[in-house]
Amino acid sequence: MTRRLLRVLLAVVGVCLCALLMGMAATTDNPPPAPGRVTYYKDVLPILQSNCQSCHRPGEIAPWSFMTYEETRPLAAAIKLSVLTRKMPPWYADPQYGHFANVRQLTPQQIRTLVSWAEGGALAGDTKDQPTPVKFLDGWNIGQPDRVVEMPTAFHVPAEGTIDYQYIVIPGGFAQDTWVTAAEIRPGNRTVVHHVIAFVRPPGSKWLQDAQPGVPYVPKKAEDRKSEDGQSSQQPKKRSDEGSGGNEQELLVGYAPGLQPTVLHDSATFIKAGSDLVLQMHYTASGTEGMDKTKIGLIFAKSQPQHRHITLLAPNRSFVIPPNADNYEVRSQVLLEETVTLTDLMPHMHFRGKDFLYKVIYPTGETETLLSVPNYDFNWQMGYDLAKPIVLPKGTRIECTAHFDNSINNSHNPDPTSEVKWGDQTWQEMMIGWFGVSVDPKASTARLIKFEKPGTRTPPGQADAKQPEAKPTSAPGRPAGSSLQ
Ligand code: HEC
Repeated sequence: MTRRLLRVLLAVVGVCLCALLMGMAATTDNPPPAPGRVTYYKDVLPILQSNCQSCHRPGEIAPWSFMTYEETRPLAAAIKLSVLTRKMPPWYADPQYGHFANVRQLTPQQIRTLVSWAEGGALAGDTKDQPTPVKFLDGWNIGQPDRVVEMPTAFHVPAEGTIDYQYIVIPGGFAQDTWVTAAEIRPGNRTVVHHVIAFVRPPGSKWLQDAQPGVPYVPKKAEDRKSEDGQSSQQPKKRSDEGSGGNEQELLVGYAPGLQPTVLHDSATFIKAGSDLVLQMHYTASGTEGMDKTKIGLIFAKSQPQHRHITLLAPNRSFVIPPNADNYEVRSQVLLEETVTLTDLMPHMHFRGKDFLYKVIYPTGETETLLSVPNYDFNWQMGYDLAKPIVLPKGTRIECTAHFDNSINNSHNPDPTSEVKWGDQTWQEMMIGWFGVSVDPKASTARLIKFEKPGTRTPPGQADAKQPEAKPTSAPGRPAGSSLQ
């Protein structure tokens, strides 16, 4: 679909939605402010400050700044359309399920205020009405970092072609065990950085052992190749030294459009003394050559944290999406081998991703839908932080169900005629249900989850005997479930 056609469609949807919202207005909250009396300084700026400026300011991901009247005024009509269609602020969770601490949604009242402002001539009003400007700290959204770790040399991104994932091992300088409460990745050049994942590589790890510190490294395809989930694509030979307590890498923080930096409240991510940081860089050619020097900011816990935060995953790596299939289902499932507290969720697919659902099945058999993303959009990688973390007892299962649209109707689909399998690049696919948990900081994290064949309902006690070998850690090898489906 062309962009213009899309815009026309959006406009039509907008008008319908507008009528709907206006209809709701009478019953839900105060009457809409009369157009013409709504001003930027008094009414609009407070909404932009709390909902839009985090992205719409210089140096952030959005193409326009909404920091001043002069910058915002020319976009009044686009703002109206974007909020009516709920394209902005970006948020993809079906409101029927779950409550999220990082929810980005305007109230109907706020939407009406922005619409009235645009329709009433986008007036400035009186500067004396303006709220105190929000202070954004020197680019860092997490606050001033205790440590900034930067790529030692800039990476040259060519104008064209496919660029393999680059892994950059950076000695972290962690002289002692360290707890990280907040982490943020700042790309040096957003036009060429598609996404970044920062991993912690504990001392003694064999992962990327041939990589020179600071030198961009591309693992050989045949060797122990790590992927977007940081996993080995080969079945591990040993079960020793596994997990975050051993010497497997652990996800620290990611960068992608829409993804917020990691800010933990009563928990922290553990970095063992002597660990390295590994940046997995996905660069995409933009038509113009570019240089990038990405950095990562860390804030350390001031005291021993009450909980340890770990990011685990429920992936399925063995699907084959047939050409032209418009609703191909892929599922993944893990069994919790310890009691954990679930704190956040992040679905991940590529261009053919259509929808994604997380469900838990408690040991009692009760089930609960945690998150439904009915219209997944690859361009927006979103994390969903539970408003109230949920205790998941040992024996609980997490089940993820995704659908893929490999048909011509999917405007993002690079090639409906191809059969699509797991792979790093965006024309290949992924199916990962990332989920963050918090656990006792002193407990072993070596065996937190077991990968299962989707649909398995074996009682937890018998699971060991019945299930295929799996590597149940925060950083497992190829999961058992992956050879299925
Ligand atoms: C999480 C970051 C983020 C937040 C929060 C956000 N935006 Fe955006 N916005 C973007 C990005 C990135 C783009 C450009 C890409 C796109 O159009 O999808 C964009 C594009 C837009 C556009 C252009 C739309 C178009 O059709 O091209 C408008 C208008 C807009 N945003 C308004 C808003 C308003 C109003 C808010 C707050 C109520 C807001 N945005 C909040 C990131 C954000």
